[in-house]
Amino acid sequence: MRRLLIAILVLASAGAAAPPLKILIAYHSETGNTEKLAAAVKEGAASVQGISVVLRKVSSVTADDISSADGIILGTPVQWGNLSAPAKQFLDQVGAVLGKAGSTYGEGRTAAVFCTAGSPSNGQEMARLSAISAFLGMRFAILGGVNAEGFGTLGPEAATAGKPPGVSALALADGRRFGERFARLTLQFRANASR
Ligand SMILES: Cc1cc2nc3c(=O)[nH]c(=O)nc-3n(C[C@H](O)[C@H](O)[C@H](O)COP(=O)(O)O)c2cc1C
Repeated sequence: MRRLLIAILVLASAGAAAPPLKILIAYHSETGNTEKLAAAVKEGAASVQGISVVLRKVSSVTADDISSADGIILGTPVQWGNLSAPAKQFLDQVGAVLGKAGSTYGEGRTAAVFCTAGSPSNGQEMARLSAISAFLGMRFAILGGVNAEGFGTLGPEAATAGKPPGVSALALADGRRFGERFARLTLQFRANASR
């Protein structure tokens, strides 16, 4: 009887799945473009086994969303050549929450950024680099994307004021690919990282 009990316990512990890693996707969007790209990024990330995704407007993010996240992705519209003020406020919130928790800020966690802008080459680089710079300052490990040509990028982006306007199917596919890559690499990174 005792042996049977032990065997059951061993089998149960072997079969117990590790809790999923949590990815927070926080975005600001005034006219829906960045929100669409955020949904594509979520789709890609959620397709990876062992990942749970929390998708939130930056205005709704809680301290718990931040402190419990293994990886954080920020989505922002480009406004006057840089990330938007609410997206910047979110970065300040991340710093305040992780700083309060004690200590090592984003150490052992991953971060990334994506953006939408009206026209090509009109602030996308600056917006993403600004966010990346803040995340690096908080000790996150930064992950970028891979474009259709196979080159690494600062993260997905879309120019939305073309004809037709909005986020193209190509940009959405890029977002999904990026989300999947971010989730997969976060799993690898977290397996060896300590906070
Ligand atoms: C205040 C403001 C400033 C903007 N500045 C830029 C800019 O510098 N460069 C650009 O290409 N588009 C700019 N845009 C256009 C937005 O970045 C673009 O429409 C974006 O896709 C909006 O995203 P959303 O629908 O998620 O709000 C600006 C829009 C607003 C409202």
